Parts: sequence; C-alpha cells; structure tokens
Amino acid sequence: MRITVGQIRDMKQKGQKITMLTAYDYSTAKLVDEAGVPLILVGDSLGMVMLGYESTIPVTMDEMVHHIKAVVRGARNALIVGDLPFMTYTVSVEDALRNAARFIQEGGCQAVKLEGGVNVADTVRRVVECGIPVMGHIGLTPQSINVLSGYKVQGRSPEAAARLLKDAKALEEAGAFSVVLESVPIPLSKLITEKLTIPTIGIGAGMHCDGQVQVVHDMLGLFADFIPRHAKQYARLGDTIKQAVATYVAEVRDGTFPAEKNGYAIDESVLRELAR
Ligand code: KIV
Repeated sequence: MRITVGQIRDMKQKGQKITMLTAYDYSTAKLVDEAGVPLILVGDSLGMVMLGYESTIPVTMDEMVHHIKAVVRGARNALIVGDLPFMTYTVSVEDALRNAARFIQEGGCQAVKLEGGVNVADTVRRVVECGIPVMGHIGLTPQSINVLSGYKVQGRSPEAAARLLKDAKALEEAGAFSVVLESVPIPLSKLITEKLTIPTIGIGAGMHCDGQVQVVHDMLGLFADFIPRHAKQYARLGDTIKQAVATYVAEVRDGTFPAEKNGYAIDESVLRELAR
C-alpha cells in the first residue's frame, strides 16, 4: 500500500522522524523504495546530477514528467513528490494548476513541491483545493539562485528569520502537507518546526526538523562536481563505478573477459553443417 500524505502528517504527531530521498529513474527508485524510504522526491536537482546543467533553472516540465514516470514505475510504496520547475507555477495560478495536474495525471506522482512562502500561498491553496497535495520549500530556494546571489545559508538576520517563519506559517495555512527547510540555521529550523503542525523536512537545517531529505547522488557519492557541507556520504559509489569500469576495460584488453561461461553453446552438428 502506498504511503499517504495523512500518514506523513501523522508521523510528526507520533514523533517519528521522516526520511525523504530523491530518485530520478526506475532502478534507483526501486532500491530506495525497497529500503523503506516513505517519501521520494523527483527533484529538479535532476537537472544538475542527471542532465549536467549548471543549475536547476533550465529544467523543463517535459524533462520532469519523463523522470517522474520512471520513478513511479519503480516505487510501489513511497509517496512520490514531483518538483515543479522554475516559472511553471508563478506566472499564473492557472499555469500552476495545469502543470501540477500534468504531474499527477501524466506523471503518476501523488504530490507536488514548489518553492516559495507568502508569495505562493494563494497558488498552494488553489492547488490543494483542486485535490493535489503540496509540499512547500523555503530557505535556500535554488530556483531563485540569481536573486539570492549563490547557494548561501538563509534566515540569519532577525528580519530574514522572521520572514522565513512567516513563509512557513503561510504555507501551513494554505494547506501544504509539509515544508522543506533548506540551508537554515539550526535554532531557526527548530523554532519553525515547533511552531508548525505540519512536518518540516530539512536539508542543511539541522537535527530538529521532523524529517530529512538528501539528494541520492550526494549520499551515495555519485556526484563529485560539488559536495554540499550538509551532505553525508554513506557510500562512495562513484569510486566503486570507476574501479569496476577500469577492471572491465583491462579484462577486455587482456582477453580475460568474456570467459567461456559468459558465452552460449551451439550444437556441434550445426557447425559441421556450416563447414561442408
Ligand atoms: O530538487 C531537489 O532535489 C530538492 C531538494 C534538495 C529538497 O529540492
């Protein structure tokens, strides 16, 4: 049975920590799901770790839908959240509704995520009213990287901290079922978590959030271009892959691979027939 937004909300009430991980393809989604992760985010971070863009800004609706479909095919139990890309929910509420509906109807995911607080609250309210669960995302919002002037910790000044709290409250009041806090100082994310009834999911926001989200490539050591301070590498699959590929190259060159057992037999009589 697939996890519901109600169950995610209940986890906060029961004091159970929530785990969210990104996935962008069928095989990874299957592994993450089978490992027991209740929330999978098809993040627009796929633009950087899967497609090689410099930021998340170039990511399109078509690219997101393509990856969401693959993740939905791989994960049977987790609640799957699709990340609405840059400018697909801010031009008009109608745009937001159409694009959120496309994720759910065509992509097959169960919820959408969008960046912003007070400025997107009316949009969140309408999307939820139309039957689509919404996860908010405040703090460091990568789609606004050009306004924020870089990937920096947010909410450090009294005014900025007050703004973030207001944003979080606005999302809760608009009906969001949870909110991602990205790159927010630990005491501030603690305060926001205490003030909200919906779960906070932190990334670079410390241990007091109700849950944690990581980019799967960061935690598995698959993406070496940039390793954020808040990421913990639980494996070094990049090194493992390079080592395996180098061994394959060496074995093909020296004739060790393929071995007899990797090939297929044919009846001797067929060969005798051919030789006549
Ligand atoms: O796109 C993404 O992966 C995200 C997470 C970092 C929260 O938004």
